[in-house]
Formats: sequence, structure tokens, C-alpha cells
Amino acid sequence: MINKNVEEALNVQVQAEFSSAYLYLSMAAYCESISLPGFAHWMRLQHEEETAHALRLFNFVIDRGGHIDLRAIEKPVGSFESPHKMFDEVLAHEQLITEKIHNLYALSVKENDYPTQVEMQWFISEQVEEEKNAGGIVEQLKFVGDSSSALLMLDREMGVRLTEAK
Ligand code: FEO
Repeated sequence: MINKNVEEALNVQVQAEFSSAYLYLSMAAYCESISLPGFAHWMRLQHEEETAHALRLFNFVIDRGGHIDLRAIEKPVGSFESPHKMFDEVLAHEQLITEKIHNLYALSVKENDYPTQVEMQWFISEQVEEEKNAGGIVEQLKFVGDSSSALLMLDREMGVRLTEAK
């Protein structure tokens, strides 16, 4: 049986992952609207990845005999000042998610919930990857600056992102 406090926190995290998916889908639409199909492709894959994270937690709660209580998902931001500003938001968002995952891990330790500790270890590693990826693109966008030709080159690079949803 799953601890009730952990169950509640996992349900909140399911919502956070679906909210992330929705945010990235909104960013994909923004990228399409400014003719950056490579960035849009990257965001679409990110949307799939976040959906997979939410479903992983959803399945985990069910496998533990817990109760799923889906929460409302807020309307995401739909427009951004620039691709650079948008990626600053991606990085800040991932840092926030990392904090939530760490809190969930700390709660599972406090409640002696060993299976959730193991599950959270996967998410902790995943967040290292997420922050590294977003941070790397923020750095590249700093180099791009105001150069539209450099932005188009980066867009082409972003368009070949192959990462599978995990
Ligand atoms: Fe599911 Fe980007 O963290």
C-alpha cells in the first residue's frame, strides 16, 4: 500500500508533468508561428517526453495500489519575446520541476517509502539531463544574439533532435 502523503504528492507531480507537456506544446505553436520549424520539432518531442513522464507516474501510483486524482491544467503562456527568452523560461521551468522532484524524494525518505525513492532516482537523473539540455540551448542562443542567419542554422540543428520520449 502506498503512503497517503506520498500518493497525494505523486498526484500533484502527475499534474506538473502534464502542465509541462502543455507548456511545451504551447511553445511549439509559438515556434511554428515565427517560422522556426526546428525549434517547434524540439518542443513537440519535449511535449511527448513530458507526457511520458506523467504517464510513468500515473502507472506507478496504480501499480502501488494507489488512487489517481487528476488535477486541472492551467492555460499555458502562449507568446514569448524571442526564442532566447522562451528558452530562459524552459530552463527556469525545468529547475522548478527539479525542485519538486527533490521534494518528492525527500518526502518518500521521510515516510520510509522505498519504492518511491527508487522511482524518484530515475526522475532525479532525468532532471540532470533536462537542465543540461535546456541550459545548453540557452548558451547557444546567447551566441546567436541578433543574427537571424545563426538562428536559422540553430533551427536546422534543433530540427534533427532524435531523442525518444522516455
Ligand atoms: Fe518531466 Fe522536463 O521534466
